Amino acid sequence: MALVIAIDGPAASGKGTLAKRLAAHYGLPHLDTGLLYRAVARAVLADGHAVNDRAAAIAAAGRLGPIDDRDEALRSAAMGEAASVVAAVPEVRAALLQLQREFAGRPSGAVLDGRDIGTVICPRADVKLFVTASAEARADRRYREARGRGESVTYERLLDEIRARDSRDAGRAVAPLLAAADARVIDTSQMGIDEVFRVAVTIVDTFGPAM
Ligand code: DC
Repeated sequence: MALVIAIDGPAASGKGTLAKRLAAHYGLPHLDTGLLYRAVARAVLADGHAVNDRAAAIAAAGRLGPIDDRDEALRSAAMGEAASVVAAVPEVRAALLQLQREFAGRPSGAVLDGRDIGTVICPRADVKLFVTASAEARADRRYREARGRGESVTYERLLDEIRARDSRDAGRAVAPLLAAADARVIDTSQMGIDEVFRVAVTIVDTFGPAM
């Protein structure tokens, strides 16, 4: 039986890690939809356009090719910022809609994570999770990761970046970051990934379709 799990939440909430673990646990394909917007942003910049050039973003979304999810260059903080800018263009979102719906419609089902999966892409998902954490907890995670990689960043700067990204993603007119009315909210501020995973599995096993 197909199982579709929709996971939404703000940047650095832990939703991507959770999505990967749930996909492995239930044997489902996983789509990190943020990568689609990141790839559009990269194409715009690679063609020499400004990231807020709407026509360039719409054109790039229309000719988006396959994405390698091991492509580390797509995962940089700068590309996340740029992705958040192109993601506010309604035609960009429209161009990426069908691809995401097709992924979710695979016979096995799927796990998708992003900002609008439970609200727009898969409004009829079997289980919707909204994974969130305080801006401070998320900035702290980013800070530890960056320090672990030997980067010199300040906590305050990361906190500012997280707040700016939240307000852009939640404030846009089309498909803003928003928990679906029927989503189950997991606040990960005080939780490690193992605990988040256990909570999510309990939710899926309790509220998902009988497998
Ligand atoms: O999840 P992420 O950090 O890779 O996403 C990068 C940006 O892409 C995010 O700030 C907003 C946008 N995005 C979106 O608008 N809708 C999605 N479903 C996924 C990402």
